[in-house]
Amino acid sequence: MEYQAKQVFAKHDVPVTLGTVVENAEDARAAAEELGGRVVVKAQVKTGGRGKAGGVKLAADPDDAVARAGEILGMDIKGHTVHRVLLAPTADIAEEYYFSFLVDRANRNHLCIASIEGGIEIEEVAKTNPDAVAKVSIDPGVGVDDAKAAEIVAATRFPAEVADEAKELIKKLWDVFVKEDATLVEVNPLVRLAEGGLEALDGKVSLDENADFRHDDHAQFEDTSSVDPLEQAAKEKGLNYVKLDGAVGIIGNGAGLVMSTLDVVAYAGEKHDGVKPANFLDIGGGASAEVMANGLHIILGDDQVKSVFVNVFGGITACDAVANGIVHALELLGDEANKPLVVRLDGNNVEEGRRILSEMSHPLVTMVDTMDGAADRAAELAAAAN
Ligand SMILES: Nc1ncnc2c1ncn2[C@@H]1O[C@H](COP(=O)(O)OP(=O)(O)OP(=O)(O)O)[C@@H](O)[C@H]1O
Ligand SMILES: [Mg+2]
Repeated sequence: MEYQAKQVFAKHDVPVTLGTVVENAEDARAAAEELGGRVVVKAQVKTGGRGKAGGVKLAADPDDAVARAGEILGMDIKGHTVHRVLLAPTADIAEEYYFSFLVDRANRNHLCIASIEGGIEIEEVAKTNPDAVAKVSIDPGVGVDDAKAAEIVAATRFPAEVADEAKELIKKLWDVFVKEDATLVEVNPLVRLAEGGLEALDGKVSLDENADFRHDDHAQFEDTSSVDPLEQAAKEKGLNYVKLDGAVGIIGNGAGLVMSTLDVVAYAGEKHDGVKPANFLDIGGGASAEVMANGLHIILGDDQVKSVFVNVFGGITACDAVANGIVHALELLGDEANKPLVVRLDGNNVEEGRRILSEMSHPLVTMVDTMDGAADRAAELAAAAN
């Protein structure tokens, strides 16, 4: 969120005004008074285009700030409910620029995109006047040194009076990008103030979760209020789970196999009332009983799920170990296992694996030898239960 991005900017000496965050309208009065009366009230949600949606409003005085905060709090902006607003002193803006650093995956590089025609119409500028948007690629091994900063300033055509200041600010934003392990650092608008000087009036930062281990302070930025409860529970168990909108629960080993499983289930579902996969869940290489039980527990906790498809290819973990995992998982779950399970096992030691499962002869478990056949059966069972 913007206010968090600004905290990160401040840590790296990027000029910002932090302002005050409130969660209820009445608190806006004292906050506005402290900030000098005239403030801007800004919705704090993790999406762009807040201004256009009516989530950024000017307030002339503290009473007005309470009224504006009241309008914005609770608003829905592109599916994000506004729980917080930021109050910031109204800036006297001379010009609005756009600035960003991002990962350029197509070119296996980093990229700076900048424009002196920033502000809320930047997407329009990019379409109608692409020459006004500078793109400067950055070698990650070299980064943004004085020469690169000067190149960016020249390509963007920053006015001469702010050129030197822009160079320093760009190097600081590069610090944010690299030192915080960000995949995106965006400032729109970066403004030239009427009284002189540059300031980041808005900020958007995407942090790379893979680098969380070296940033203890990043945990505070996580928005647990809008996370799906099943996904949260899965995360706590260390499972790779993504909730989808469907009726066939999926468990597989290996991300590639699970993605293929989603495809075949969606395809099979076309013949069975259009049922769809309910989730992505990769239990990884070692499909132990505990991991299998954790996975089933999460999936069975999804009310939308009507059947479960367990699709495992025995590799390093052989099929007999997986089959034992399923047997023990069902024992661990007891009555909680209350929806039909279709299991397809193949690969290393498949005969033994299938023997273990048929010996168990669990009333809810069906074995199907092929992936397409199993997908069809799972979709059929889900459609029948709907
Ligand atoms: N502190 C401020 N003082 C005066 N005007 C402001 C202030 N903050 C924002 N504005 C004005 O409101 C506009 C929109 O604000 P901002 O860019 O923060 O929100 P946004 O529309 O959500 O942007 P984005 O689409 O990039 O998320 C800015 O372009 C600027 O003109
Ligand atoms: Mg903006």
